[in-house]
Amino acid sequence: MDSAKLELDGNTYELPVTVGTEGEVGVNIRKLRSESGAVTLDTGYGNTGSCESAITFIDGEKGVLRYRGYSIESLAQKSSFVEVCYLLIYGELPTSDQLEVFRHKLTYHSLLHEDMKKFFEGYPPSAHPMSVLSAMVSSLAAYYPDSDDPKVQELNIIRLIAKLKTIAAFSYKKSIGHPYMYPRNDLSYAADFMHMMFAVPAETYVMPELLTAALDILLILHADHEQNCSTSTVRMVGSSGADLFASISAGISALSGPLHGKANQEVILMLEQILHDGGDYKKYIAKAKDKDDPFRLMGFGHRVYKNFDPRARVIKKKADEVLSKLGIQDPLLDVAKELERTALEDDYFAERRLYPNVDFYSGILYRAMGIPTNMFTVMFSMGRMPGWIAQWLEMKKDPANRIHRPRQIYTGSQVREYKEISER
Ligand code: SDX
Repeated sequence: MDSAKLELDGNTYELPVTVGTEGEVGVNIRKLRSESGAVTLDTGYGNTGSCESAITFIDGEKGVLRYRGYSIESLAQKSSFVEVCYLLIYGELPTSDQLEVFRHKLTYHSLLHEDMKKFFEGYPPSAHPMSVLSAMVSSLAAYYPDSDDPKVQELNIIRLIAKLKTIAAFSYKKSIGHPYMYPRNDLSYAADFMHMMFAVPAETYVMPELLTAALDILLILHADHEQNCSTSTVRMVGSSGADLFASISAGISALSGPLHGKANQEVILMLEQILHDGGDYKKYIAKAKDKDDPFRLMGFGHRVYKNFDPRARVIKKKADEVLSKLGIQDPLLDVAKELERTALEDDYFAERRLYPNVDFYSGILYRAMGIPTNMFTVMFSMGRMPGWIAQWLEMKKDPANRIHRPRQIYTGSQVREYKEISER
């Protein structure tokens, strides 16, 4: 199959077809407007491919997710977040030497410039950490200017991944009025983040190995997800030539929406609401089905997955394992499981193929780690960072790429004469 035919207004147009390595078919409409004068219309881009990409493959029908060809299940079981960062950005699993060099660079670039600490002083304790994160990431460009030099660009990528956990932990410490805990070079990425979040100068912080291992897996599971809203934002902003930090900052802002990354925070708020409402989850299932009720089952449904989100499966299993090992009885987990069981037996959800997504159970694990609910989407950002970077790099290197500038179909007033205010 190498072309498609479009019949429009008595004319036939032959459109080239691109078939991907997994058999996905893309009808290339690059010349459609110049040849026919027409554009396609696809509000929300549910049927539109924005690029060709070799980074992540999702089969929404089968619940398959792979980074650079490796299944998410195998990476969650056998890899580490730092190794997955390398895989996504460089395209191959590193050798042990490559991994050690990469890990060393991340470790030795995790400090923030001391002047950047002053930025936190300007925020009220109530500031949402996603607003702080987006602003701080954008501000990194003031200290580490963009450059066409590949070595500088690679160093800025290292700086971004390395400093992100420091910015996240510092914003938390500032919000609770505690002193900052600086990065430690003897700790892994996840352990260093936990240390900066929860250690205090007065005593030695006992690192909960079980939780840092679970955090590393959560970061892996969030690392990339092809052309989702925030990644498409990163690509769009980067397509104008904006620097890495500005592009990623825009992605963080896109992720902060409750329909996207902030859903993990909304899930916990929803479960707490159900619990406080006597645990009547069936009432909330009914609300979710009611067209006149704006309530949605947060953490349920997905534009691509019409089967289980494979990440949700791994997270649910890990949440069960961690909570039972720690002897934690989290009533929210019980409500979540009952909600899932009831929804999956309900025709409304079955007909619309609505399943738990990555956000449905992740908050249960973050809670067990002691991470505050308003930091959950920051955790999502930390995990997604290598994916955003890899996608930004792929866009920059794509010879077919040009500034993203969609068209529209105008439905407003036709031409009319200006009237003086006295005549209106
Ligand atoms: C993420 O794209 C990605 O890859 C994102 C992500 C990533 O890794 O980057 O996977 C991360 O953002 C996961 C999604 C987190 N968001 C939520 O959990 C919010 C709740 N879910 C939804 O609002 C919704 O399911 C979306 C936003 C996720 C998907 O929306 P779509 O694809 O635009 O689907 P839709 O709104 O057109 O819904 C189709 C139907 C509608 O019913 P009908 O009009 O056909 O009768 O399903 C219904 C919707 O009302 N529906 C829901 C529902 N989600 C969809 N009804 C109740 N509860 C829900 N959660």
